[in-house]
Amino acid sequence: MGDTLNLALIGAGRIGRVHAAHLVHRIPEAQLLAVADVNPAAAQACAEQYGMPVAVEAYQAVLENRDVEAVVICSATDTHAEIIEAAAAAGKHIFCEKPIDFDLGRIDRALAAVEAAGVTFQVGFNRRFDANFQRVREAVAGGEIGEPHLMHIVSRDPAPPPIDYVKASGGIFLDMTIHDFDMARFLIGSEVETVYTAAGVRVDPAIGAAGDLDTAVVVLHFENGVIGTIDNSRQAVYGYDQRVEVFGSGGSIRIDNNHPNTAVVSTAEHLRRDLPLNFFMDRYVESYVAEMQAFIDAVLKGTPPSVTGRDGRAPVVMGLAARRSFDEKRPVRLDEVQHG
Ligand SMILES: NC(=O)c1ccc[n+]([C@@H]2O[C@H](COP(=O)([O-])OP(=O)(O)OC[C@H]3O[C@@H](n4cnc5c(N)ncnc54)[C@H](O)[C@@H]3O)[C@@H](O)[C@H]2O)c1
Repeated sequence: MGDTLNLALIGAGRIGRVHAAHLVHRIPEAQLLAVADVNPAAAQACAEQYGMPVAVEAYQAVLENRDVEAVVICSATDTHAEIIEAAAAAGKHIFCEKPIDFDLGRIDRALAAVEAAGVTFQVGFNRRFDANFQRVREAVAGGEIGEPHLMHIVSRDPAPPPIDYVKASGGIFLDMTIHDFDMARFLIGSEVETVYTAAGVRVDPAIGAAGDLDTAVVVLHFENGVIGTIDNSRQAVYGYDQRVEVFGSGGSIRIDNNHPNTAVVSTAEHLRRDLPLNFFMDRYVESYVAEMQAFIDAVLKGTPPSVTGRDGRAPVVMGLAARRSFDEKRPVRLDEVQHG
């Protein structure tokens, strides 16, 4: 490969525009040539904003474009698997937003197409590229806290998404907890064997009426003996709550929320500070740049991507198991759902 990579964006919505901004303004090796979106106005607006010469409605058109070497798939989740298969068949390298799909059979077909084509494939688990989480992984992997025993992830959104989004999201475990399932595997460096879920609807009855949950604790048993918890809420009134602790035989490591500033106001009555960064666009912005840079480096250097198809599949298995555990009120082994 040369020094630059020609890319096309598929899906110009919320996260698609974040990636477009980074590809154009933050990553010198990237050339963003085209955008496809089934909503032509979204494609056009994105092309104008980021100076792309081509805006089309059908993603097939960017796959036929010989100048395009890689695609960044940011369309709705239920379109990912089909687009991955088509992009792989066209010989394009692929960055795909999480989750690959909700269905393990479709995921397996998409990953088989990637394998057969021999293209680079990276899944958008951006939190792995966050400096704080990377430091926790480093401490665990390097034995800095001894043998890890316990892992706690707190992951709460500032407010629930619109109800139409909830209905199409695949449910809290595949939409939201999926990032935490990935983080759990990443931090501990071991696969999860069993999950047990306690969950309910505590924020908005409309979420329950849509068949989903908004409050959950998932207990994880890892193959290496570590016990973990993931604590999710769709609504933390004080903002995006993203904390982690890993406790081990030689100590513990903890990360707290990121704040827009470190100022503390002290008065006769109290100490006060500003709320944490409000949501993922603010909290994780640098991780989105870093994951895209890593994808482009992997393609240009021909090195393996840092988040693989296997890493994309495993949290979906965990999400399906977590829902089954809630429905059946019992611990569920991942191998009960492993094969779809
Ligand atoms: N990694 C993260 O932190 C993160 C954050 C947000 C969203 N996501 C994921 O990114 C994906 C998109 O989410 P979003 O919030 O940007 O949604 P969105 O609804 O804002 O945008 C999706 C866009 O895709 C377009 N689209 C739908 N089907 C298409 C198709 N067949 N071809 C081309 N375009 C198509 C829609 O018209 C829309 O403009 C989802 O899979 C979501 O799970 C990941």
